[in-house]
Amino acid sequence: MVFLPQEVIAKKRDGERLSSEEITAFIAGLTNGEVKPEQAAAFAMAVYFQNMELDERIALTEAMRDSGDVLDWSDFDGPILDKHSTGGVGDNVSLMLAPIWAAVGAYVPMISGRGLGHTGGTLDKFDAIPGYTTSPDNELFRKVVRETGCAIIGQTANLAPADKIMYGIRDVTATVENVSLITSSILSKKLAAGLDALVLDVKVGTGAFMRTAGDADELAKSLVNVANGAGVKTSALITDMNEPLASAAGNAVEVRNAVRFLTGAHQDKRLLSVTIELAALGLGLAGIESDMVIARQKCQTALDNGAAAERFGKMVSMLGGPTDFVENHDTYLPVAPIIRDVFADREANISGVDAKGVGMAVVVLGGGRKTPGDQLDYAVGFDRITPIGTKLDANTPIARIHAADEDSASEAANRLRKAYQFGEVGASSELFHGLITN
Ligand code: URA
Repeated sequence: MVFLPQEVIAKKRDGERLSSEEITAFIAGLTNGEVKPEQAAAFAMAVYFQNMELDERIALTEAMRDSGDVLDWSDFDGPILDKHSTGGVGDNVSLMLAPIWAAVGAYVPMISGRGLGHTGGTLDKFDAIPGYTTSPDNELFRKVVRETGCAIIGQTANLAPADKIMYGIRDVTATVENVSLITSSILSKKLAAGLDALVLDVKVGTGAFMRTAGDADELAKSLVNVANGAGVKTSALITDMNEPLASAAGNAVEVRNAVRFLTGAHQDKRLLSVTIELAALGLGLAGIESDMVIARQKCQTALDNGAAAERFGKMVSMLGGPTDFVENHDTYLPVAPIIRDVFADREANISGVDAKGVGMAVVVLGGGRKTPGDQLDYAVGFDRITPIGTKLDANTPIARIHAADEDSASEAANRLRKAYQFGEVGASSELFHGLITN
């Protein structure tokens, strides 16, 4: 039968269930140009209002995954493992997690993205390292994964191209905020990386895209069910984003925080807990260690004995960065001309944080994008960010700012102060809000 895109759109518009063949044909048409952008926009809006059942979401994810290259690691002698975070502020977990997994026997070909809105992006953080290439050719990518166990790079040109087209259309047609579309978009790219197992970190709170427990739970369940339905062993941890996770937010400042974490020079408590929990979960899914207590110990040991730091250093060096980056990162990372403490205007306990406000202050400094093509200033951001519950006084600042000039420093400092709430008492939220397994 001749495929007519308008018939598929009408069916979804009227609330009917689409067959796997119809979804596959629609996405194939979108990829080869037979389905026009206005038809894809109408399809996205129909899905926005009518949603999709699990089998439809799986078909959409698989069709978008198969619209381009699907990586094949069958000649590797260990499990292929990755993580995806739905995005937050001060979330540099990937920088530690990939080398920890590499040190305990997994292969981690991590294809990461740029910052989105107020959230930071792993790719932008690696671009802060001089010489490091986030777009190696396929041969180098495989060589780095094989020899170090991990390689963190950007999306290759032909990875899930249907998602690239669809995402661009959703972005300008008010159809981003739909769980079916978000699920297929995130997973099509991750699944095209040829994974055996995937750990999801679904963030909830003031600095997350999902602000309520209900929304985070719905997205986590959708992601877990679709990924497992598409053949990748997947679980999701729902974690707190009611304050920055690391004590740094920005690009070079988060890389510095990560290197110090890996070497044991400084480890933020909540960041350590989330990293170890996600790492242990991954070992279970990848079939490396099913006992969570032992899995946590193995990951902690890889950190403590320097094995993870060594993997990180080797990855940086093989991808073009300095060979002594771990040891001498301070001499390589860009430094902002203005570095100073930001104090609150009174002495009080920090009782809450609008973490999105902190992320937007980083954007104001030039560490995130105001418009899509913006060039970032990798040096700017905040470090020494104080956790909820801390009593601030004349000697205890909220954070230390790294800025390019006085104007942006002053605006970002004001935004930071506004993002903090003060009261008699304050305590950080629970770090773990739920675990979704198949
Ligand atoms: N990130 C993605 O890759 N896709 C979405 O739809 C939302 C967030």
